[in-house]
Amino acid sequence: VREPDLAGRHVVVSAGGTREPLDPVRFLGNRSSGKQGYALARTAAARGARVTLVAANAALPDPAGVDVVPVGTAVQLREAVLKAAADADAVVMAAAVADFRPAHYAAGKIKKKDGQEPDPIVLLRNPDILAEISAERARPGQVVVGFAAETDDVLANGRAKLRRKGCDLLVVNEVGERKTFGSEENEAVVLGADGSETPVPHGPKEALAEIVWDLVTRRLE
Ligand code: C5P
Repeated sequence: VREPDLAGRHVVVSAGGTREPLDPVRFLGNRSSGKQGYALARTAAARGARVTLVAANAALPDPAGVDVVPVGTAVQLREAVLKAAADADAVVMAAAVADFRPAHYAAGKIKKKDGQEPDPIVLLRNPDILAEISAERARPGQVVVGFAAETDDVLANGRAKLRRKGCDLLVVNEVGERKTFGSEENEAVVLGADGSETPVPHGPKEALAEIVWDLVTRRLE
């Protein structure tokens, strides 16, 4: 059993993927399962933290002892994260947040019209929540962690994203095809704003979660 090294701490984790509605039955979404965020929430609770899990459309059971706030869209996720972050020691943005949302929401189901081409979907930019909470820390010393998926130049792109977002740690996942035939080798590395680089060997999402909390705990001391 681990030491409760997050006892007395409040941590906020976002998980899942946002859905941006077009009409009452359709949305723009992504394939995020929410499993990494849920693993982060479970492991933080096991280490003694009070955990707020802002969950976007994850079809997963609520982890025991975790305060779950369900949300749908990026705008709702932002509201819930900012509210919970007000007294948080750490915020981990594991959710896949849609970069864009449809500019128009049709109150009734969009219909096809005979002999007519469909209307184009106009998109608006969503707020960048990670950049916002990093720029405006609700508490001095609050630790902010982001996630990024990169297909090439993982370290260089990760470093650039870390600087752009202004967070303390960025978990960079290598995705996509590698030179070995179609093998699914997902390697992660956690980059620190202090220049640190922590490689995470291929393994369960719990293991990555524990490493993230180790790095967060060190920065909270
Ligand atoms: O820019 P990119 O989407 O690659 O960044 C990923 C990181 O930024 C994740 O931690 C994600 O939760 C966060 N993000 C955000 N708001 C957005 C887009 C991404 O907080 N609109």
